[in-house]
Amino acid sequence: MRILITGAGGLLGLNLALQARSDHHVIGVDRCRLAGVPFDQVCVDLLDPGAADRLLEAQRPDWLIHCAALANLEACEADPDLAHRLNADLPGEFSAACARRGVKMAHISTDAVFDGTKGGFYSEEDDPNPMSVYAATKLQSEANVLAANPQAVVARVNFFGWSPSGRRSLSEFFFNNLRAGQACNGFKDVWFCPLFVGDLVETLFGMLEVGLTGLYHVVGSEPLTKYDFGARIARQFGFDEGLIRPVSVEQGGLTARRSHNLRLSVHKLSTALGRDIPTVSTGIGKFYTQFQQGYPQKIQSYPQ
Ligand SMILES: NC(=O)c1ccc[n+]([C@@H]2O[C@H](COP(=O)([O-])OP(=O)(O)OC[C@H]3O[C@@H](n4cnc5c(N)ncnc54)[C@H](OP(=O)(O)O)[C@@H]3O)[C@@H](O)[C@H]2O)c1
Repeated sequence: MRILITGAGGLLGLNLALQARSDHHVIGVDRCRLAGVPFDQVCVDLLDPGAADRLLEAQRPDWLIHCAALANLEACEADPDLAHRLNADLPGEFSAACARRGVKMAHISTDAVFDGTKGGFYSEEDDPNPMSVYAATKLQSEANVLAANPQAVVARVNFFGWSPSGRRSLSEFFFNNLRAGQACNGFKDVWFCPLFVGDLVETLFGMLEVGLTGLYHVVGSEPLTKYDFGARIARQFGFDEGLIRPVSVEQGGLTARRSHNLRLSVHKLSTALGRDIPTVSTGIGKFYTQFQQGYPQKIQSYPQ
């Protein structure tokens, strides 16, 4: 397949492009921040008017995986107009452009669309109630994408892994602090279901291969608190987990409001794919294996 990946310089996009290139022709879209990547690269500022349509016309992919976003919650609070343009409008434009050309689109959304007031697991049927500019713009993106193209698939994700900057993911936050022997906060009152980025990539390809359409929760199958996630990283790497302060998210000094419960059910996804979705435990093991194999150095060598 010929696959166009936006946000190819980001945490998900670069892992996706590196993993996909062994089986597919990958074209990564970024703002020329990468050098020496082992896949085709096109430099585009997606904020340029008409960029989505021009890219699809020029590249003619079979699949588009749209990962580009303003994914920093605090940055979205600081510039809601930019967040809306990039996170909500642009995915709709890509979706319409894909519909016109029969290109299969996978759009990446977020678990953060829920307010966390539900006691148990959220299903795709539950009503979202975004608590931040970021979450509101991502929720709008889901509607825009599916209205323009019902054949698209929208994945609400939460993931961790090694990033090109070395500090994008929560796993790297704990790794960097603990390796340096520095104390850091771990939220005791935020539950989530992180999926290792390599498992997310495999799952997304599985979804595209069987032609899923519509909305899916694509997260890990095991919920835990952010504090416990940090403690598990510490144990896997042999760091001192006592350095992690168990605090409330309200004590975190963050501008954007966060949900306390982001437990998402993957029942719809696992039923559609006919297999179990990986757990965070196996994912942390793979995160560690990549560390042993020098993957962080490799992925951090591409930004120029
Ligand atoms: N990380 C998570 O745990 C998480 C959780 C839930 C959902 N998500 C979603 O997953 C997707 C990927 O997230 P991520 O963590 O990989 O984010 P990321 O590392 O911040 O990557 C986003 C990418 O989008 C690119 N981009 C932004 N504005 C652009 C523009 N105008 N033109 C071209 N490229 C532009 C960025 O490029 P520049 O470097 O040039 O700015 C960056 O490489 C996003 O849709 C995010 O909302 C992430």
